[in-house]
Amino acid sequence: MKNFNDRELRERAEALAGRLTLEEKIGMIHGAELFRTKGVERLKIPGLSMSDGPMGVRQEFEPDSWKSLGNHDDYVTYLPCNSALAATWNRGLSYATGDVLGAEARGRGKDVILGPGVNIKRSPLCGRNFEYFSEDPYLTKEMAVPYIKGVQKWDVAACVKHFAANNQETQRLWVDVKIDEKALREIYLPAFYDAVKRGKCYTIMGAYNRLYGEHCCQSDFLLNRILREEWGYDGVVISDWGGVHDTKEAANSQLDIEMSVTDNFDEYYMAEPLKKLIEKGEIPESAIDEKVVQILMLMGRLHMLGDALEERKCGAYNTPEHRQTALDVARESVVLLKNSGNRLPLCPERAREVLVIGENADMHHAPGGGSAEIKALYEITPLMGIKMLLGGNAKVTYVKGYCQTPKKEDTDANWQEASLENGGGEVRGAGKEDEALVARRKALREEVVSMAKAFDQVIFIGGLNHEHDCEGNDRADMRLPYEQDELIERLLAVNPDTVVVMVGGSPVEMGRWVDRADSLVWSWYAGMEGGLALAEVLFGKVNPSGKLPESFYKTHMDCSAHAWGNFAQKETADYAEGIFVGYRYLDAFHIEPEFCFGHGLSYTSFAYEAACLTEKDGKTYVECRITNTGKKAGKETVQVYLAPRERSEDEAVQQLKGFEKVFLEPGESRRVTVEAEDYRAGMEVRVGSSSRDIRLCIAQ
Ligand code: BGC
Repeated sequence: MKNFNDRELRERAEALAGRLTLEEKIGMIHGAELFRTKGVERLKIPGLSMSDGPMGVRQEFEPDSWKSLGNHDDYVTYLPCNSALAATWNRGLSYATGDVLGAEARGRGKDVILGPGVNIKRSPLCGRNFEYFSEDPYLTKEMAVPYIKGVQKWDVAACVKHFAANNQETQRLWVDVKIDEKALREIYLPAFYDAVKRGKCYTIMGAYNRLYGEHCCQSDFLLNRILREEWGYDGVVISDWGGVHDTKEAANSQLDIEMSVTDNFDEYYMAEPLKKLIEKGEIPESAIDEKVVQILMLMGRLHMLGDALEERKCGAYNTPEHRQTALDVARESVVLLKNSGNRLPLCPERAREVLVIGENADMHHAPGGGSAEIKALYEITPLMGIKMLLGGNAKVTYVKGYCQTPKKEDTDANWQEASLENGGGEVRGAGKEDEALVARRKALREEVVSMAKAFDQVIFIGGLNHEHDCEGNDRADMRLPYEQDELIERLLAVNPDTVVVMVGGSPVEMGRWVDRADSLVWSWYAGMEGGLALAEVLFGKVNPSGKLPESFYKTHMDCSAHAWGNFAQKETADYAEGIFVGYRYLDAFHIEPEFCFGHGLSYTSFAYEAACLTEKDGKTYVECRITNTGKKAGKETVQVYLAPRERSEDEAVQQLKGFEKVFLEPGESRRVTVEAEDYRAGMEVRVGSSSRDIRLCIAQ
């Protein structure tokens, strides 16, 4: 197949654009359906077909309403969420995830998949954190770049979102982010920069929020100055759905396509209103010519035009290989937070009677979360995973132990259309629970506590769900919902060996019981195979190798966005903390997290030795020897942090600047080479197993 270079693509796009009428051009730059733009039939230019992302390809909707078509042919592979993927610290798995997503998107006939989300986790309370990778820009970009390449290999565009500084859901359409440019560039922009430069992402989605007073989807600063002029981006910029607010500003900005959530397609800002202004001469037609050229270039890249179409990749969905990838990622995403006395793994042969407690043991998470919802082909819950693994000779007893707050009747399928109301997002606190519910929970608790005494093996599986980790929603605090703290405390009192598993997309407070829990495991929304992967870790079929991609604070007030800046405010989000986000804040201000960035245990142990620096082709590498000193094969993520020896006040104490994950058999030893990005003389190089478990230092 002939692949045109950028110059040829542009020449062809310009020639084609020159043949279009104003009406036709207008049709191409705004949604004509909720997930589709118009094509130009007479010239065989198709419309662009888009779908969410990022955990799989979303179900089909009616073209002009958020009603599901209710088909049975749009079930898909449900992939682990981006937080889970980031917890693997495995670039290869990120590529594999993108590869599955791209193949499935193409397999479902899509041109653009709306992901990955690369926003920084500024606060643990942001409802969309599960869609994002990390609090750290380096880890985020290292995972995002292979992901994008995996997607785009399938003649499908990744749409990297949400550009930029989109870190809260409260008032998400209007909140104005106040941030100093240094922090913007060091923390919030690098993932987008690398997505453009290294990932070569074909499309980018603007953010809902404002930055320096401008709506991001029509921002001169972000789109014109930074994205196009500084970074030389020549892909397509798509608005978030309903993120455009003004015809002239949008037309004059580097936004290429306006999408929204309502069915008045002709009234979109870049539809009839723009056409009228052009006809009146208030906006030159040339303002939209470049947008059309960009779109045609994208179509050229995706082999959507002319003869290339014949050879366009066709993709596939729901293949066994895709499910295997979902399982591979899920296995490496599980984080063993605590394992005092090596109580884990449990022994499958001795597990004759197991008591599994907690609503999350038996809950499907795929259909929730907002636009990231998935119509999963299936979802193996933890309970099912445990039963699949143990087989029929084991007696697995399941009791809920707690229950969530029943959903209000009016939680309708059309939340997305309604999402433009009230600024598009809010903080949803626990509120006062009704008495009947409190009584029911108490009864559930009493039932299970008396049972737990009698069992040798008790596994509690709780945490959050998409009522909390959800688009349009920020959490009020990090406390566990549904009185789970009471339940866990009681369980640990009657059965101190209880294994505690948390499922969620963002950390929760654990202070009330964490010291008494010997074994504590974190599992995310880990896709269709997530429950099996968790069971395999609990029973030792898989040695855990996940590491936290974010700090697990003791309470949200230990996070700088709350302690220092502000969060979930209506008008302005003041990022007064500057670059001190996540571990950068904890390190500089000597605050102890519950579990630190990069933390994650294994069933084996690793020794670090003999670190040294090497140079090659202008790059600096850290070399060291890692030995598996335990009895089980396992994977370790070697993390490299750079620390300025003389730190100025506005600099981080240390920053992650390299990592590699290695597999070692028991007793095996290997030399590992890790690139240390941005290394400069005068820096201390720290090599470790987490941000606070530094094993070796090189100070030159
Ligand atoms: C979300 C985007 C999503 C879009 C389309 C918006 O509400 O912010 O991430 O891609 O809807 O569903």
